[in-house]
Amino acid sequence: MPLDPTPVPDELRGLRVALLVSGGIAAYKVVDLASALNQAGCEVRVAMTPSAMRFVGAPTFQGVTGNAALTGLWAADGSPEPHVALGDWAQLILVAPATANVIGRIASGRSDDIVTATLLAARCPVIVAPAMNDAMWSKPAVQDNLATLRRRGVTLVEPESGHLASGHVGTGRLAGAQAIFNAMVHAARSRYDFAGRRVVVTAGGTREPIDPVRFISNYSSGKMGFALAAAAADRGARVMLVTAASHPPHHGVEVQRVDTGREMLAELRSQLRGADVLLMAAAVGDFRPAATAKRKIRREETPSLTLQLEPMPDLVASLASDESLAGVFRVGFAAEDSDLDAKGVEKLRRKGLHAIVANDVSRRDIGFGSDYNAGVLLFADGSRYELEKATKREMADRILDLVLPKLTR
Ligand code: C5P
Repeated sequence: MPLDPTPVPDELRGLRVALLVSGGIAAYKVVDLASALNQAGCEVRVAMTPSAMRFVGAPTFQGVTGNAALTGLWAADGSPEPHVALGDWAQLILVAPATANVIGRIASGRSDDIVTATLLAARCPVIVAPAMNDAMWSKPAVQDNLATLRRRGVTLVEPESGHLASGHVGTGRLAGAQAIFNAMVHAARSRYDFAGRRVVVTAGGTREPIDPVRFISNYSSGKMGFALAAAAADRGARVMLVTAASHPPHHGVEVQRVDTGREMLAELRSQLRGADVLLMAAAVGDFRPAATAKRKIRREETPSLTLQLEPMPDLVASLASDESLAGVFRVGFAAEDSDLDAKGVEKLRRKGLHAIVANDVSRRDIGFGSDYNAGVLLFADGSRYELEKATKREMADRILDLVLPKLTR
């Protein structure tokens, strides 16, 4: 990266970037990066960990950005909350270089220095560019922490392999300027592109009661729906999550908890008024007990039990036939074990959807319960997009990227 002639993309001009620097030798390269961003018209403010200052002085960053670098939680100007001010101000955060230590501290939610505290106080997209020794990079502890960050929506710019400061050759070198700029452009472009939109998301497996203590459900974890809700909220949408699964909701997501398919349908009918998009990731049960016992069915009194099941209405199909909801762009999800495209297209038509995500539940590495997913996104206009294996959050962003241009209002 030193003296890298990589031009800074135009899309970054005017962007307010908080550059958070931790203590790795690659900090010296980040001075060049800060200088290039500043010259390209970004406003760059730097915060440094104490170890970062052993590698590069705060005046160096001040020299290349025109702004004093923050070096502690107690600002020189007496401001009591420099981390909140920086977190509020930033439109994009870049952590570079990110050491194994800072990655671990971010993953565990620490806030005991200006870098970690700013990250907790921030409301904008975060990009992390790790740099470390190859042995450190390959440790499960580091990789687990990185997986945690990715799951939470952080973009990672993977390190490169090559000659390392330790004298070894391996993976751990800070990514080049081009890769870092690309990630910044992507984050800047997607930020707020759903502003002003109302998005309704469903999640989880519905529960149909047998008696007051038992129910029929399925293995859906709700993770895909929660990831979609988080991604839409981060991109500026007003998000209502109608969910049969319970997880801590993402910042800015409104949650309506339901149990049965019928409760979900009633909630959707009211929440979808004026909505732009429905992302129907819930696994709605196809059958429910024809009758629910009012009292607990007791084993002593019931030598054998036969449950009579009746079919559930198809929620999205009935929403599709409601003319007052005609303006809502409806995206369904289909869990399939074969012929994703053919089955996806058939469901898309039968359920009156505008698009469907078909994913392969026969694969053990993705789908139900997993943090990963993969599949194909099919639109009613015939277009088709492969969704490569990614975290559910990454896949959620990719789905939103592809759905946005199809919205007609
Ligand atoms: O037919 P299948 O269950 O595979 O279809 C999945 C899609 O249809 C999902 O988007 C799911 O939320 C929706 N669905 C529904 N009502 C049902 C069953 C599924 O809306 N009763």
